[in-house]
Formats: sequence, C-alpha cells, structure tokens
Amino acid sequence: PLMKELFGLYRLEAELKAFLGVNHVIIVPGDADVSDWVKVEMGRAGARYLKQLAVPDQIVAVSGGSTMLAVAEMMMPTPAFKQTTFVPTRGGVGEAVELEANYIASLMAKRTGGKYRMLHIPDQLSDEAYQTLQKEPHIQEVLDSLKLARMVVHGIGDAKTMAIRRKSSPQVIDELEKGKAVGESFGYYFNRDGKIVHRVRTLGLDLDGLELVEKKVAVAGGASKAEAIVAVCSLVSQDTLITDEGAARAILKNA
Ligand code: F6P
Repeated sequence: PLMKELFGLYRLEAELKAFLGVNHVIIVPGDADVSDWVKVEMGRAGARYLKQLAVPDQIVAVSGGSTMLAVAEMMMPTPAFKQTTFVPTRGGVGEAVELEANYIASLMAKRTGGKYRMLHIPDQLSDEAYQTLQKEPHIQEVLDSLKLARMVVHGIGDAKTMAIRRKSSPQVIDELEKGKAVGESFGYYFNRDGKIVHRVRTLGLDLDGLELVEKKVAVAGGASKAEAIVAVCSLVSQDTLITDEGAARAILKNA
C-alpha cells in the first residue's frame, strides 16, 4: 500500500475505473511488456482478490494464458477454495499446454485443495465435430457447470499476438486485419468499439453464458494490451480489472 501511494496508483485506479466503467480496478506498478516480475505481481494481486471473494460451493470459470498461469501460481489453500470447483472456460486452444485453460484450472485446484473439471475439446472444430461433441453427455455436464459459475477470471490478449500464438490460418489473419481486430478474450476477436470480428469455433463459455456470471474478473497488463483492454471492457460488463501501470497509463493517454 505504501508503494502504491508513492506511485500515485490509487489515483490512477480511480481514473481508470471511471473511464472504463468497471466496478473495481487494481493496478500494480510497472509494465509487464518491460519486465516479467510485473506479471508475477498481477498474479499475486489476482490470487489475493479471488481469495477475498471466495465462498464455499462456488464454481469458478478460468481462462488460459500466461497471466492466468501467474494467478494460478500464486494461489493458496483456504477453506472456501477447498469447496470450490475450477472449470476451464474452453477446451484446448492450440497453444502450449501450460497456457491452456484446462491446465490452469487443474493447477488452481491443486494449489488450493479445490476440485476441477476438464473440457477435453480441441479448438477450431469442424461443423460436424462441433455438433457431435456438443451432444456428448460428459461435455454437456461441464458446459452446464459453466452456466452455474459464480465467477469467471480471464485474460485479455492483443489480437495479432494471439492469432500468431495460436498459429491461425492466413485467412483468419486476413479477416482480423480487415476487421481491425485489436483484442481477444473467450475466443472472440473484437475491434476497438468492442464489435466481434471473428470467433474461434469451440465449445465453452460464450457471450450469452458470460452474461449469467455474477463476477467477471479480467487480469491483463502491459501497454501493448491497452486497446484490447478498452475493447473487452466495452463488450463485457466487467466487474473487476486487475492490470499494471503500463496498460493503465497507455489507456488514459488515448482517452
Ligand atoms: O488463450 C487464452 C487467453 O486467455 C486468451 O483469451 C487471451 O487473449 C490470452 O490467453 C491472454 O494471454 P496472456 O496472458 O499470455 O497474454
């Protein structure tokens, strides 16, 4: 807290909260684009926040990505977490395994003593596979549990970075460029006005399902994610944003 006061971060939090229209903003010092420890600090802030909010018998939906991995790595056991079920927001995403939501949900459960469920579905499904998998009772059960989630904690990515990381096809990259996509979350790519430009065909939490979740917590930082953060906050009614100084200053500079 003393450090935050010194950096004037409380004022920055208030400004960003007003600008983005989210209920809570937590800013850690530094810029994740510049130094790796800033992501670790966002992870710490995220884990602490989830602990404060935790209640017994809750379902927490979790996305993938390196920032969510940082959150998972900071989580600790609490009585409420021991009665929490962590569920991935989606199946695979064609990324490194430790960045997949499945892995992160299992890691959160392991670190907290909680429970978890898995969604063993690849991303970029064909129409046929999509229809068939959707009807699988086991998958249906996990999808139903996502609809009962009390909280969702998720990352936000820069559109281009994510398309490359997922080895998206030239057609998709072209579509994203033409649509001026700036950000990505939940498999949706959107432009700066929060309009959806492209969607990764997969099963999991979609925008309708997201509406049902009471608390939505985004964790994303680095100045390079400024536009992406603004876009996702205008698309999804965010309860909380945990970010860093680099992103916060970049967002307010363009405000
Ligand atoms: O792929 C999962 C995901 O949460 C994306 O929705 C998001 O764009 C990305 O990860 C963020 O990843 P990182 O925290 O590594 O920037």
